[in-house]
Amino acid sequence: MKITRDSMRSTTRGFERYYNPDVGDAIRLDTNTNVLGSNPAAEKFLSTFSARLDNYPNTYSDHLRDALGELYGLERENFIAGSGSDEMLDLVFKTFSEWGATSTIPTPSYTLYDYFITMNGGSSDFVDLTEDFQLDVDAMVKNKSKIILIPSPNNPTGNSFRTKDLEEILSRAEGVVVVDEAYAEYAEDSMVRRVNEFNNLIVLRTFSKAYAMAALRIGYAVSNMDVAGMMNCVKIPYSLNMVSELAAVAAVKDQSFIEKSVQMVREQRPYLMDGLRKLGFHPYPSDCNFVLAKSPIDHKVLVDGLKKKGVLIRDFGRKRRTENCVRMTVGTKELNDMLLEKMAEVIDEC
Ligand SMILES: Cc1ncc(COP(=O)(O)O)c(C=O)c1O
Repeated sequence: MKITRDSMRSTTRGFERYYNPDVGDAIRLDTNTNVLGSNPAAEKFLSTFSARLDNYPNTYSDHLRDALGELYGLERENFIAGSGSDEMLDLVFKTFSEWGATSTIPTPSYTLYDYFITMNGGSSDFVDLTEDFQLDVDAMVKNKSKIILIPSPNNPTGNSFRTKDLEEILSRAEGVVVVDEAYAEYAEDSMVRRVNEFNNLIVLRTFSKAYAMAALRIGYAVSNMDVAGMMNCVKIPYSLNMVSELAAVAAVKDQSFIEKSVQMVREQRPYLMDGLRKLGFHPYPSDCNFVLAKSPIDHKVLVDGLKKKGVLIRDFGRKRRTENCVRMTVGTKELNDMLLEKMAEVIDEC
């Protein structure tokens, strides 16, 4: 029998591959990773690490969950650890979503939310952010979804949502509320230490951004012990490998690199935004290590032009609400100067 697209499960038949640019030697300012390079504590750990490879890692990543408990003043059983916060997103749906259910997500926000909802047999209730990219609280709870997903700070807009809006959604929601804090190290507020205050709050965090460990694929969810216990029952056992887990423990125990990284972004973000304004861009306020900006020339011409000059930034110009916008990682001063210079060249050339 010939296997065709029609043989695929109906919910995933329409899927296309995820963003996978031909990178070559290009400088990547398109994935919001840490431009200061590998996490030094993790790198140091890996340089001397040797272990027997024939045993499985700890089933639920207890070493990492203990280190995180110490970091936040919570217990091991408040945490679920896995292969990236993307695994945690998938796990939320596997644990709490029925086939055919609707889950609520703001627009614009992280593109993979709809992918995980659809993959798990559900459909997305897209709720527009307000004009200034804040949450429309009434609209977010209107559909009484069993799962509401909110990235704060938001990707791709860069801004944090107001804590009082998150609290109101948590109190009015009829199911779990997932606050995805992939960029929270760069922001002022976080809900992690408040998970025991709510019976329906799940916070997601990652080692891919400020921690500079995207290659190792480590993420975790934090919730009250009841909800975390439910999710750990559904999680794929051993999904976080031992090498990544122990490198993450080393990184958690040395926060100096995170502090330095956050400081660098706080200094460089206004510098980059100023430079963008001088070139005619309209940058939006950001609490992240990236900036969304409306381009003064056609978004595709800009992104393709920069690519030819060896720099990748991310194109959001065809999407509703981010028309003609591009998103770029905040670099060091040298990287920002290089980016602004190449942008000026592309603008001049067109
Ligand atoms: C808002 C948001 N959530 C989750 C992720 C995924 O992170 P991870 O690398 O931990 O899977 C990203 C990655 O870009 C993100 O921007």
